[in-house]
Amino acid sequence: MVSRVIPVDTFDLVIFGGTGDLAHRKILPGLYRRFVAGQMPEDARVIGAARAELDDSKYREEVRGALREYVDAQRFNEDHVAAFLSQLHYVQIDAQGETGWKDLHALMRDGVVKAFYFSVAPSLFGDLAERLHSHSIADSASRIVVEKPFGRDLASARALNQTLAEHFDETQIYRIDHYLGKETVQNLMAVRFGNVLFEPLWNAQYVDHIQITVAETVGVAGRGSYYDKSGAMRDMVQNHLMQLLCLIAMEPPSRFDPDAVRDEKLKVIRALEPVDPTDIVRGQYEGKGKSDSYHEDVEDDESRTESFIAMKLHVSNWRWAGTPFYIRTGKRLKARQSEIAVVFKDAPHSIFGASAGRHRNILTIRLQPNEGMTLGVTIKEPGPGGMRLIDVPLDMTFADALGPDNDAVPEAYERLVMDVVRGNQTLFMRGDEVEAAWAWTDPIIEGWQGNDDRPLPYEPGTSGPEESAMLLHRANRRWREIRE
Ligand code: BG6
Repeated sequence: MVSRVIPVDTFDLVIFGGTGDLAHRKILPGLYRRFVAGQMPEDARVIGAARAELDDSKYREEVRGALREYVDAQRFNEDHVAAFLSQLHYVQIDAQGETGWKDLHALMRDGVVKAFYFSVAPSLFGDLAERLHSHSIADSASRIVVEKPFGRDLASARALNQTLAEHFDETQIYRIDHYLGKETVQNLMAVRFGNVLFEPLWNAQYVDHIQITVAETVGVAGRGSYYDKSGAMRDMVQNHLMQLLCLIAMEPPSRFDPDAVRDEKLKVIRALEPVDPTDIVRGQYEGKGKSDSYHEDVEDDESRTESFIAMKLHVSNWRWAGTPFYIRTGKRLKARQSEIAVVFKDAPHSIFGASAGRHRNILTIRLQPNEGMTLGVTIKEPGPGGMRLIDVPLDMTFADALGPDNDAVPEAYERLVMDVVRGNQTLFMRGDEVEAAWAWTDPIIEGWQGNDDRPLPYEPGTSGPEESAMLLHRANRRWREIRE
C-alpha cells in the first residue's frame, strides 16, 4: 500500500485550552504526527491560548514534554520536534475578560484558513464565540471545533447549539465524536457501500441480530467527578455507540458528502424506539478490595451511576423491523475490545439434517485492537463418515492485509483536525443529530431517576453483570465473548 498525504491549505489553528489535558494528550501529538507525515504546511501556525502566564518559548517547552510523553518513541525525533515547535505560538487569554484578545487579533493572518478549537468547558463556548466576533478575529469563513460532552440532555444541548448559532453558521461548526475519526469506523461505510457482497443481505430478512460491544479495561479513577455525573449512557452510548449504530443501520447515502451522510444517520436516530426498561442492564464495578470499586474511584459510597450498560434496541423502519441491536459498553471489563458482529440467520432449509447442527454466518468487524474483519463460514469437517459441518473464520487483519504502510494511518484526532482545515464536515456531528440523540436518551435516564434504579454490581475483569447475558439468552442468543 502506498500511503498518500493530501496537502492542505495553510492555516492558523487556535487551541483555546492549549495547556489542557486534551491538547497535551491528543490534539498536539496528532498535529505533530501530521507534521512528520509532511501534511502540515511549513507556514501553518498553531496558537495555544489559555489563562496561564506563558510565552512562546515556555509554551514550546511544555509541549515538548507532552510530545515526549504521548508520541510513540519511534516517532519522537528531536529535529522534527524542534521544527514543529517553531510553528507554535502562545497567547495568554481570558475567555471571560478582555486580556489577550488584541494580541490574538494581531497574531492572526488574513487569507489563511482560520480554525478555533474550543478545548474548554462548554460553559465558556458562548464567551469565546462572542469575543471572537467582537474583536473581529473570526469571520464567516472561520471554523470552530467543539468537543463532547455536547450538553448533558436535550435542553442543554439545544442551549449550546443556540449559543453557537448566534455567532457561527452550522457549516462553520465541527462537533467532534472521535469515534468517527477512527480508521475502522470509517471502514464500516467502505465495507457496506464499497462491496456488492454485503448490502443485499444487510436487512431484517437475513440478519438475525447485531451486537455492538465497546469494552474497556480502564476504570474511572482520576476523572470520577466528571464521570459520576455522566455514566456510561451519557459518556459512551449517546455519542460513540450511537454513531456506530448509525453507520451500521443507515441507508446508503447518495454521495459521501457531509449532509447526505448525516441526513441518513439522523433518520436512524429518529427511528430508534423507546427502550423497554426490562431491555436495559446497568452495572457498576465492585471488586473485593476497596481500591477496586467504582464507589472508591468516584469517592461517593452512594453513587448510582452506571459504569456498564447493555441494552436491546429496535430501529423501527422497513429495513430493520424485527432485528434487534444489542449494545454494551463498560469500564473495568475483561479486555479492551470494540467490535460489531452482524449475526446472520440460519439457512432457510438444511439439506444436511439435524445431525449437522446449527450454523450461522457471523461478520465481525474489529474496531480496536487488532483491527480487521472476520467472516464465519460453514464448511465440511474433513474426514470420512458423512457430512459434519464446522464453522471456520475467513479472517483478515488490516495490518497484515495493508502491509507496513498501515503504520502511517492517522489516528482519530489527527484526521479530524485535518478535516477541519480542509473544511470537510462528513465526520462531524450536525446540531440536529446531537439533539435527536439526546431526545432518545433523556427519557431512558429519567426512567432510572424516577424509579430509584440501582446498577447491578459486577466484578472487575469480567464481562459485566450476569444479567447482561440474560438479555440475549431470553431469545436463545449469546454475546460474543470478550477475550482477554
Ligand atoms: C471518551 C470517553 O469519549 O472515550 C471515555 O469519555 C472513554 O470514558 C473513551 O474511555 C474511549 O475512547 P477510545 O478511543 O479509547 O476507545
